[in-house]
Amino acid sequence: MNKTIIITGGAGFIGSHVVRLFVAKYPDYRIVNVDKLTYAGNLENLSDIDRNPNYVFEKKDITNSESIKAVFERYRPDGIIHLAAESHVDRSISNPMEFIMTNIVGTTTLLNAARTLWGNDTKEKRFYHVSTDEVYGSLGAEGYFTETTAYDPRSPYSASKASSDHLVRAYHHTYGLPVVLSNCSNNYGPNHFPEKLIPLSINNIKNNKPIPVYGKGENVRDWLYVLDHARAIDVIFHKGKNGETYNIGGHNEWTNIDLIRLLCRIMDKKLHRKAGASEKLITFVKDRAGHDLRYAIDSSKLQRELGWKPSLQFEEGLEKTVDWYLANEQWLQNVVNGDYEKYYAKQYEAR
Ligand code: NAD
Ligand code: TYD
Repeated sequence: MNKTIIITGGAGFIGSHVVRLFVAKYPDYRIVNVDKLTYAGNLENLSDIDRNPNYVFEKKDITNSESIKAVFERYRPDGIIHLAAESHVDRSISNPMEFIMTNIVGTTTLLNAARTLWGNDTKEKRFYHVSTDEVYGSLGAEGYFTETTAYDPRSPYSASKASSDHLVRAYHHTYGLPVVLSNCSNNYGPNHFPEKLIPLSINNIKNNKPIPVYGKGENVRDWLYVLDHARAIDVIFHKGKNGETYNIGGHNEWTNIDLIRLLCRIMDKKLHRKAGASEKLITFVKDRAGHDLRYAIDSSKLQRELGWKPSLQFEEGLEKTVDWYLANEQWLQNVVNGDYEKYYAKQYEAR
């Protein structure tokens, strides 16, 4: 093998797409997926590639410095692509401590392990930290987040991610650790855990359950198809400049209510329902505490310097996503039933 790369959080939504892309595209890389398998981690996301000879799974908690040190010593990675995180804003509001532990302590544990392993021998080494546009706070009706926008996180989730970003940059400046960072807008696509807006709405529409829209549905998000994010991560990992940050976004802003109406139209068509049937499920509910109004990313640095651009139009991507959820009913059922543990036992007991 040419290179060994540890991908953390590889059993989650975005991580599983990154693992699949790297395993398929770089047969000469050994890809080590380090994931604790929290409620959001699901090995079923990787069932199509988990027997590939260049793929290894390690069930580990990134906050446990002993086991992370052991993994680093065992595999001696050339690169880390760090995606493991607690990622849902609503959960961060009800239980911030998990976010502090995984997102801040966990990231620092990985930084320490990389520093210990590499020492001063950092040639061809890279620690890639995957972050979110939510660290920049909330925009009004105008403007975009750029790489120089001042940090202003406003939820426990975004504050914990902001803190981890600062630590990654601090390890670069203080110890010379070779790092690169990216901050991406909202992702959507296959394997998205149905606690987030789009998969939750698809699941509810399918089951004729109310679609909960927070507040008046006027909040704006900039949506990017998850495979376009994975492609950006590939480009930045290989070509990004040491110490730099790249913003990733779809230039694709939607208010939540417009997005849900579009989704309802697609679902009506796919489920052969009367036009307008799914929209009747829209239900306005109490707003999220501290709900950020608008996120929008300026990704021109990434486009200009590294030649990346989004590949899919939103309508096309959303339709593909709906098709995937309708074709993968069992995946959704297992997730909703909390069946990850059973799946894990089935896959690994015999090994
Ligand atoms: P996710 O919640 O779907 O997956 C997170 C993964 O991390 C899971 O597999 C989980 O088991 C694992 N994990 C959690 N705690 C762990 C721990 N202590 N040790 C080891 N593994 C642990 O998240 P996602 O949506 O795929 O997001 C991945 C990354 O991308 C996160 O860092 C997130 O902040 C960032 N991001 C997400 C979005 C988005 O729209 N989802 C946008 C921009 C950036
Ligand atoms: P979410 O998917 O949780 O992503 P984030 O909060 O990280 O942007 O939410 C996307 C938007 O949808 C956000 O403005 C909150 C809103 N939302 C709802 O209106 N209803 C819901 O049930 C959920 C989960 C989110």
